[in-house]
Amino acid sequence: MTKLPWHINGKLHVCGSSAFIADEPPQKGMLHAKFLFSPVAHARIKRLDLSKAKSFPGVHAVISYNDIPGENMIGHVLPDEPLFPDKTIMYCGQVLAMVLSEDESIAEAAVKLIDFEYEELEPILTIDEADRKQEWYIPERKIELGQVEQALKKSAHRLQGTCISGGQEHFYMESQRARAIPVDHDLIHIYSATQSTMEVQEIAARVLGIPVHRVIVEVFRLGGAFGGKERAATIWAVLAGLGAYLTQRAVQVKLSRDEDMHYTGKRHPFQSDWQIGFDDEGRISAWDILLRSNGGAYVDLSIAILERAMFHADNIYYIPNVRIRGRACRTNLPPNTAFRGFGGPQAIFVIESAIEKIAAHLGKDPLEIRKLNAYHNGDVAPYGQKIKEASAAGILDQAASDSNYEKLKASVASFNQNHRYRKQGLGIVPVKFGISFTTAFLNQGSAMIWVYIDGSVSVSCGGVEMGQELNTKVAIVVSKVLGVDPQRIRVESANTQRIGNASPTAASTGSDINGNAARIAAEKIRSKLRQAALMLIKERYNIIPDELIFDHNKIFPVGFPNHSISFADSVKRAYHERMPLGAYGYYATPDLFFDSELGEGRPFHYFVYGAAISRVEIDMLSGEHRVLSTHIVHENGKSLHPEIDKGQIIGAFIQGMGWCTMEELIVDVKGQYQSGNPSTYKIPGIRDLPAQLELRMLQSRSSEASVFGSKAVGEPPFIYGLSVFFALQNAIQSVKPEAELSFPATNEAIISALS
Ligand code: MTE
Ligand code: HPA
Ligand code: MOS
Repeated sequence: MTKLPWHINGKLHVCGSSAFIADEPPQKGMLHAKFLFSPVAHARIKRLDLSKAKSFPGVHAVISYNDIPGENMIGHVLPDEPLFPDKTIMYCGQVLAMVLSEDESIAEAAVKLIDFEYEELEPILTIDEADRKQEWYIPERKIELGQVEQALKKSAHRLQGTCISGGQEHFYMESQRARAIPVDHDLIHIYSATQSTMEVQEIAARVLGIPVHRVIVEVFRLGGAFGGKERAATIWAVLAGLGAYLTQRAVQVKLSRDEDMHYTGKRHPFQSDWQIGFDDEGRISAWDILLRSNGGAYVDLSIAILERAMFHADNIYYIPNVRIRGRACRTNLPPNTAFRGFGGPQAIFVIESAIEKIAAHLGKDPLEIRKLNAYHNGDVAPYGQKIKEASAAGILDQAASDSNYEKLKASVASFNQNHRYRKQGLGIVPVKFGISFTTAFLNQGSAMIWVYIDGSVSVSCGGVEMGQELNTKVAIVVSKVLGVDPQRIRVESANTQRIGNASPTAASTGSDINGNAARIAAEKIRSKLRQAALMLIKERYNIIPDELIFDHNKIFPVGFPNHSISFADSVKRAYHERMPLGAYGYYATPDLFFDSELGEGRPFHYFVYGAAISRVEIDMLSGEHRVLSTHIVHENGKSLHPEIDKGQIIGAFIQGMGWCTMEELIVDVKGQYQSGNPSTYKIPGIRDLPAQLELRMLQSRSSEASVFGSKAVGEPPFIYGLSVFFALQNAIQSVKPEAELSFPATNEAIISALS
């Protein structure tokens, strides 16, 4: 058997022994929470009478807005979201009251006894409607470069269009949940399925009306998050915390799959109008885009998501005259939230759709148009950041050569000539994705390390493990600095008592930020161990080396290969010499700033580049399709763990493909989501994989990369999924050039585009 690369959680997951919050045995007297969810999207509350539910045998407590000891406010970016609404219901599924009982079925039955009257109001559900009423969380945002209107007028060709992309259910395997336990000294310990321990801690303390230090938030691991627990996990953790605080019992909150899918926020749908100006060659001179998103009932992360969308409205293209405008619209849907890519995929979809139109208009190959307009070193992005390591054009060339693009084109053309009811198509998408939180202050993180007396190591950081195997990457970083096997390193839970003020594990920055903080802490310990090792080496071998190398659980004096000492011996010596064997590391990503008024700055530490080319085949009679091949080229610096990165790249591609080809969220006229499980919401399965799936990871050397030369990997490859959408469109247009494929490209969408 081949030896698998080391990976902390893999074996536990495969054996089913990794622990998740609600799978742990209940504490004595633990109460289960069940909720009264609003059945309507917009209403005035007329009466909420909890008395019948309270007196139901077995019910321990029924909690609503009157019971909140602190503030009824869980808004974070803006103070707009109550924990329980007291007057106005803003979305279908909003929590109105919480019933606690030791018995789940009793709590469920008691929810039905809550006396609740309301007066329905007209809900706003669409972007158009919200925009018409100027229901924006903040005024329109703008980023401008050059003179777009003049350039549009002067350009030889001009095209325009509207691009719509849909929402997406996160479909993490572990639904939203939390368990809160009251402990002595007036503490509430919340085990939360959150990507952001700091946010949960801060907001729970606010709602309970107690200092932040009286709330502990702890996360061992998440069963997937994909952005859906960056902000949207807070409410469930706060509800558990509130229940535990008021009853002084352990309280568990756990949504069913059905509740989670119906009532929690999703990826932002976008609707964007654009105009593009270009010359006979296809060189773009002007790009004017208005991005509008459906943010749902409360702001959540909608402003940052809109901002990231605006930063990706150029994708890989240098355009001298650009105007990017953005509006985030308030509607009566559950608050839409972070989802892998965070607005980037939505914006890239727009400009790539425009590129496809240019190619069709000029009768040119879309690959040529893409290469012609790609950024070069020294170009400046619309928001003023200089592009330093532009590699998009080279990556497109690599993808073309890996996929044998010219041959592929010829074979698709001949297939289409010879088949009447089946058609093939090719789709390309290049990617440039900015790495850093666009909210600059979030780009900071801490780590704490203990080296124990036997030489084993414990690392804590603020980062949350959610399947991306951040823990393994952090252990690898510490292992490199201390020269010990990663197996000797434990990466602990994220816990606010050990690491306070941690930013969410998001924006793909988990390993950059936490890895660097851990590196800095480990370097501090190494410098102490160095002193201890020099003492030992002098005593044992009577030599005084200039340099020491920490490797293979040993410390080697440079120039004396046979005179090593063990790492553990140097640890013991350092302890006996009374040297500190614990250290704190702090990292803040350097040189980031952005002025949102001016639309200018340097929001990103660096960019990740890549490209994908897909070939599909459609059945024109049924609308079914297969992906025949996908070739991905992904540039990711010096990977800390190529196998983990491969999993991230392929997984993200599949998730992106699901978004644009099959995952369809239906909202009814009342603002209620119609999907609650996989039978009404189709996510990709193993049979949807491309028949041939090739990945080339370019292990580039980058001066801009992060810890040990690695680059972030979590989100950018999501966008490769769009290559399948464009391939489907291309197949359809081979028979009907003017056809417009709607999003997502379901069988029905393919059939209606053809008819
Ligand atoms: N991979 C798995 N298995 N599960 C997840 O929830 N989330 C993605 C990505 N990869 C996710 C994942 C998202 S949205 C982000 S931002 C990053 O992981 C976060 O982790 P990182 O910054 O450590 O890469
Ligand atoms: N990505 C993810 N989460 C965020 C960001 C971002 O760019 N900015 C603020 N929260
Ligand atoms: Mo990822 S959407 O930044 O959690």
